[in-house]
Amino acid sequence: MKNLNGFPVNRIVILTGAGVSAESGLATFRDSDGLWEKHDPMQIATPEAFARDPELVYRFYNARRRQLRDVVPNDAHRALAQLQAAFGADVFLITQNVDDLHERGGSKQVCHMHGELNSMLCRACCQAQAVSGDYDGRSRCPECGEQGTLRPDIVWFGEVPYHMETIFQRLRRCDLFVAIGTSGVVYPAAGFVQEALAAGARTVEINKEVSEVAGFFHEQRCGTATREVAALVAELLDN
Ligand code: APR
Repeated sequence: MKNLNGFPVNRIVILTGAGVSAESGLATFRDSDGLWEKHDPMQIATPEAFARDPELVYRFYNARRRQLRDVVPNDAHRALAQLQAAFGADVFLITQNVDDLHERGGSKQVCHMHGELNSMLCRACCQAQAVSGDYDGRSRCPECGEQGTLRPDIVWFGEVPYHMETIFQRLRRCDLFVAIGTSGVVYPAAGFVQEALAAGARTVEINKEVSEVAGFFHEQRCGTATREVAALVAELLDN
C-alpha cells in the first residue's frame, strides 16, 4: 500500500500529453510555438485532410517521425518508468502522445490512445506496421505488398481513440489519477479526470500552466514535468 499526502494509493492511472515531451525538445500543440500555431489541424489531422492532400499529410508525419531520432527521453519519462517498475500493473500509463519517448525512457506498458508515429496502417490488409523512415503514396505495405494503401497510424480529429474500453475500466478502479502536461481541451482524454473523480480517486495535475480542466483536480502541481513528476514519483516510492 502506497500513500500520497496520507491518501491510500493502490491503483494509479497516469495520463500524459505533449507537455511531458516538451523538455525533450518536441513541440506541443497549443503552446505559443506549438504545432497547431504553424499548421491548421483541419488541413493535417483529419481523414478528410488525408483524402484531400495525402502528400501534405505524409510529409507532416514523416517530419515528426524523423525528429524522433534527434530527441531523447527526459527525467519525467524516466521517473514514470521507475514508478511502473516499482509497482507493476498497479500503474497504468495512458498517453495522448504519438512519440516513443515513454518506451525509450523505460516504460514497458504504454497505452497510446492517439496512435504512434512509428506505425502505419494499411487500408488493404488493415494491419498496423511498425515503421521507420519516410512514407508516401507510392510506399508499399510491408505485410501485403499493396502500394499506396498506407496511412499514418494516428487517431485524427473525428476518429475514435484506441483502447477506450480498457481505459475506462482502469479509470473506474483507480484511486489516484495523475494528468501530466495536457491542456485538457481535447476529449475524451480531457474527461478522464471526471471519470476518476466519480470512482472516488484522488486527482493530481502536473502542468506548467493552469489547464482547462484544472477545477477537477484535488491537487495542482504547477511546474515543469521533469521537476514535478520526479518529485511525485519520489513521494510515492518513499511511502
Ligand atoms: N512541463 C509541464 N507542462 C508543460 C510543459 C512542461 N515542460 N510544456 C508544456 N506544458 C503543458 C502546457 O501548459 C499545456 O497545458 O502541456 C500542455 C500541452 O497542451 P497541448 O499542446 O494542447 O497538448 P495536449 O494536451 O497533449 O493535446 C491533446 O490534442 O491535437 C490533439 O491529438 C493531439 O494528443 C493531442 C491532443
